[in-house]
Amino acid sequence: MKLAGVVLAAGLGTRMNSSASGGLPKVLHKLHGTTMLQHVLNTLHKLKPQKIVIIVGKHFKEIKESLQDVSKPSFAQQKEAKGTGDALLKALPSLRSFKGTVAVINGDTPLITPETLKKFLSLHEKSMNTISILSFVSQQPSSYGKVMRHERGNVLSIVENRNATMSQKKIKEVNSGIYAIEPEGLCLLKEIKLNESKGEYYLTDIVSIARDKGIKVDAFCIGSEDECIGINTREELDRARQLMKDRIIKRWLYRGVTFVDTNSVFISSNIHIGRGTIVYPNVHLEGNTKIGKRCTIYPNVRILNSIIGDGAVIKDSTLIEGSVVKRKASVGPFAHIRPGSEIGAGARIGNFVEVKKSVIGSGTKASHLTYLGDAKIGKDVNIGAGTITCNYDGYKKNITTIEDNVFIGSDSQLIAPVKIGKGAYVGAGSTITNDVPSKALALSRVEQKHFESWAIKRQLKVKSEQLKVKGAKSKERRSKRKVQSERSKVQSAKS
Ligand code: UD1
Ligand code: CA
Repeated sequence: MKLAGVVLAAGLGTRMNSSASGGLPKVLHKLHGTTMLQHVLNTLHKLKPQKIVIIVGKHFKEIKESLQDVSKPSFAQQKEAKGTGDALLKALPSLRSFKGTVAVINGDTPLITPETLKKFLSLHEKSMNTISILSFVSQQPSSYGKVMRHERGNVLSIVENRNATMSQKKIKEVNSGIYAIEPEGLCLLKEIKLNESKGEYYLTDIVSIARDKGIKVDAFCIGSEDECIGINTREELDRARQLMKDRIIKRWLYRGVTFVDTNSVFISSNIHIGRGTIVYPNVHLEGNTKIGKRCTIYPNVRILNSIIGDGAVIKDSTLIEGSVVKRKASVGPFAHIRPGSEIGAGARIGNFVEVKKSVIGSGTKASHLTYLGDAKIGKDVNIGAGTITCNYDGYKKNITTIEDNVFIGSDSQLIAPVKIGKGAYVGAGSTITNDVPSKALALSRVEQKHFESWAIKRQLKVKSEQLKVKGAKSKERRSKRKVQSERSKVQSAKS
């Protein structure tokens, strides 16, 4: 089947009440790290259409900028949101040279799966319909267009809720906003009349127009409510988020991942997790993160856009961003791996260690209280507690190079640019400003002095000072008593 996709995304999304969040267009609200529109595009992309057209409105720029470059869509603009019928009409110039089936999807239907779309399109093809609609049975049909059927089952029209009679409102088969339309059907768009009650051109009116002309149109009720949910309000967005979360968690449970508590993990839709990995509560895996096999991710960890190798252990309360942690490495607790870092196989990054844009060789250990920024660190290096790479001179960032098998003593400062040669030692408490040759010991702390018997002399001094104070106090008391007795003598003489 020759296929093109059209995504309707030019609506104003008034029911989302987004003016407070900078007027974010509805289709750019996110579900598990990916916008609604991108979810729809990713799904559509799996059907391998020859072309994808997105109908955009006044938020053209934001929408274009938000897209990940998977499907390379083209855009058509609907300057005024005059309804879904008018929106699809705007796609026609981009489809002029396309002769095939056009799959139309509302941009606010992010949970639809490629499997259901494929099934729908093959039913459309087999039935040789000019227009097909994907419908589903809804338990809350009030926000959807109702599918009107003749008693023999043929579709007559779609009636929007606001235009429906009381008995029509009870109909549970509703329109998903997903259509398959042949070129002949697209020609009918021009015939859609303005719906006076809303002041919009309803795409759904194409059904009755086609029927009146004897053009073959039908609805296939193959969708489920969980897949076809259309998002108009934040409440519906939250419901869709929950549904998507359940779907993501189920996928990984099925593939052999253990979650200690499925309720308290957040996993974005693009994540990959290897078999045998254990994920503890309150873990956030975001962006394009890949977690290897048999890893352990302890509580309160957030990992985004990173790759974690097989068997790695990420301990409690750790943040890893835009980095690679190789197999069997251990990071945390309370570590921060900032973008552009690579933690080598079997390396250990421990408590309160921050690593920024640095390469840490395999088997290297920085176990406590350390900052490693813009550093190139070799294999089997030991970084002592409190080591700091002083990478910033106030103008630019400088590189610290530490070659294989180096030992950096605790509380050392390495003033970059500086290089510590292979197998060298840096004594604890050193401030290293010059390159250290391979195998050397570098020491740059003030030499220790001993003052013999200093403690005894100090004790004697303190004691003699205490005696002096004591003597002065008793002298004062004696003189006070003397004054007192003189006074009482004078008093008794007077009386
Ligand atoms: C629409 C259908 C309804 C269906 C429901 C499924 C119509 C008239 N109604 O209703 O039958 O049950 O979807 O979820 O089509 N859009 C534009 N330009 C516009 C208006 C809308 O591009 O001028 C886009 C929106 O961005 C959105 C999509 O079309 O992605 C659907 O619009 P929306 O207003 O949400 O339609 P519903 O009222 O949900
Ligand atoms: Ca909608």
